[in-house]
Amino acid sequence: MFVEWNESYAIGVDEIDRQHRELFARFEDLMNAVGSGRGKADLVPLIGFLDAYAATHFHEEEQLHMRHHYPESCFHRDAHAIFLGRLSALKTEVEAKGASNHLVIETGKVLFRWLVDHVCGMDRQFGDFLRTGVEEA
Ligand SMILES: [Fe+2]
Repeated sequence: MFVEWNESYAIGVDEIDRQHRELFARFEDLMNAVGSGRGKADLVPLIGFLDAYAATHFHEEEQLHMRHHYPESCFHRDAHAIFLGRLSALKTEVEAKGASNHLVIETGKVLFRWLVDHVCGMDRQFGDFLRTGVEEA
């Protein structure tokens, strides 16, 4: 297990938490694929998954922000936009040059940072806000 889902990351909204768990699982799949020499073969399907995932998942999170008048929504949405930009750059590069070990590593890094910084950071803070109405530091 490379980065393990922990129930303390849950924001308490079943569908969002299911989607977050799925992202952890996809990262683990990628690391296992790299370990067994299938990283390049798995890259294109993974990028396709992340593309569809991000569009749906971020939209659902942002709808929740609005519904709950989340005061940090603007910063959180900016982080989503930055991730989408990184994903789009990866996708463009994969389409232009094909899968390479370099792009597998770059995708792994983007995904890892997303899980650690965003899901375990900003999304968790949003979960705290949903539970208590107050963000924890
Ligand atoms: Fe988020």
